[in-house]
Amino acid sequence: MFSDEDRSQLISLGLSAVRQFPLIDSTNSEALRWLEHGAPDLALVIADAQSAGRGRQGRSWFTPPQAALAFSLVLSAAGMPAAADLAGFPTWLGRCTALGALAVCQTLREDYRLPAEIKWPNDVLLAGRKTAGVLAEACWQGDQLMGIVVGIGVNVTAASVPADEQVIFPATCVEAALGRQVNRFELLRAILARLLHWKKQLAEPAFLQAWEEQLAWRGKWVNILSEGQVIRTGQLLGLDEDGQLRLRDAQGKIFSITVGELRLRPAEETTL
Ligand code: BTN
Repeated sequence: MFSDEDRSQLISLGLSAVRQFPLIDSTNSEALRWLEHGAPDLALVIADAQSAGRGRQGRSWFTPPQAALAFSLVLSAAGMPAAADLAGFPTWLGRCTALGALAVCQTLREDYRLPAEIKWPNDVLLAGRKTAGVLAEACWQGDQLMGIVVGIGVNVTAASVPADEQVIFPATCVEAALGRQVNRFELLRAILARLLHWKKQLAEPAFLQAWEEQLAWRGKWVNILSEGQVIRTGQLLGLDEDGQLRLRDAQGKIFSITVGELRLRPAEETTL
């Protein structure tokens, strides 16, 4: 757990409030509960361990004690650009997911000199294995958006890495890639600094460009999977202006895919 001094360092980055827990069900759940009761913009929930951490599409997320980072940042509706500026809520939610992935990826690349990449839409890979995941969830009251919670889980030590047979994509951790111990607080602080930096630029072309530059498998042929089946194959070109993945099929036709039940594999590695 982090000290009072650590907590004031986080506040000085620009966070509005910090709640930390030795163990919680899920930092996303706690942040959503807090949002319902008026959490301020840029409030942070962090936990040493989670008993019911969750990932995308109903999957669970493993967070044992003292081994990982698990935290959720509140982006309240009051602190967001008008949704219309971003062509609607789905685009905005996708950008919030990318915000988390970009912050982790850039931190690993620039501060730790690791060749991290973003596996669209929400994973950060090291050596082709998943090291971090992002789950952005919205809080609504009726038809009014209260805010979005950006939840980030980073595997730091080997104890946080689930076994290959427990996951749909092989995992690794920062310490394995780096070959040395990592101070979890320093990693957290660096990720949060980038989150806060890019949050101000979410609607800017620079954000899309930075996100696109870190995409895994650019220029490569990939299979798009849905429920374990390959539904399309294409050459990964980058992102369109809505943050959807842009590909070219074998006939040269350009197409985009949206966030959903899709998964990517390099074409040569796909097993059916
Ligand atoms: C995924 O890869 O499917 C997303 C994983 C997101 C995990 C983080 S850990 C902190 C926050 N709390 C949760 O319950 N989930 C996110």
